[in-house]
Amino acid sequence: QDTPEKSEREALVRSACDPEDGSLFPDGDWVQPPLLYRHALEKLEEEIESIRREWKSAEGFSPIEHIKTRIKEPASILNKLERLGVEASAERLADQIHDIAGMRIVFPFVTDVYLLLERIWQSPDLHVLWIRDYIMEPKPNGYRSLHVLVSVPVTLEGVDCRVRVEVQMRTLAMDFWASLEHILLYKYDRRVPEHLEQELASAAGAAGELDHKMLALRSEVLSLSDEDER
Ligand code: GTP
Ligand code: MG
Repeated sequence: QDTPEKSEREALVRSACDPEDGSLFPDGDWVQPPLLYRHALEKLEEEIESIRREWKSAEGFSPIEHIKTRIKEPASILNKLERLGVEASAERLADQIHDIAGMRIVFPFVTDVYLLLERIWQSPDLHVLWIRDYIMEPKPNGYRSLHVLVSVPVTLEGVDCRVRVEVQMRTLAMDFWASLEHILLYKYDRRVPEHLEQELASAAGAAGELDHKMLALRSEVLSLSDEDER
């Protein structure tokens, strides 16, 4: 039996998500921690953890260095809407802001980024909505990462819906560059002298080369241990 409170909560959840695809904030709910996004992140993290465990037992090493999640602050959602020049309404949010729930997965080796992407792709629960591959095609400033928009099934108050999570996948070297670039350029609002831009891009290139060097070293080490076994 539904108490009035329960049906009210249910209505809120219904208004907050699209049963097909996508996700919304409940109208006017800017302050409360958005439960749907929390659930979506937890669910996705669980899936990825189980892939990681399976992988580790099969291969003997974990392909993932660490996972971080965050939910965009209401203030920065409003900022972004303003930047995009759109009004703050639930519908606009669903269309325009796909990174309310965000996950960053950091890997030791670059090839493992693509292996995990394949596993996400194969998962019957997760839908890949789009991929932006800034590893194959780095941004002009040198930024490297693989961005994937994933839609995750969530059930809240008995209502089934799908919530979108922006997943950023990158190596330790790419993460090192992106973290430091963020610290360096944060207060400049991304307007820096050209020579600094060039230096940063060349540092990003060095991080990319480091990833390749480490991959080559890994294959050498693996072939050594194959020889030991023979
Ligand atoms: P926003 O940047 O969030 O407005 O989204 P967008 O639609 O422009 O997508 P984009 O792929 O450019 O960036 C999404 C996210 O990737 C950002 O919020 C950052 O976390 C990260 N990112 C993208 N470009 C850079 C960059 O040049 N430097 C760093 N440090 N992070 C970046
Ligand atoms: Mg951007």
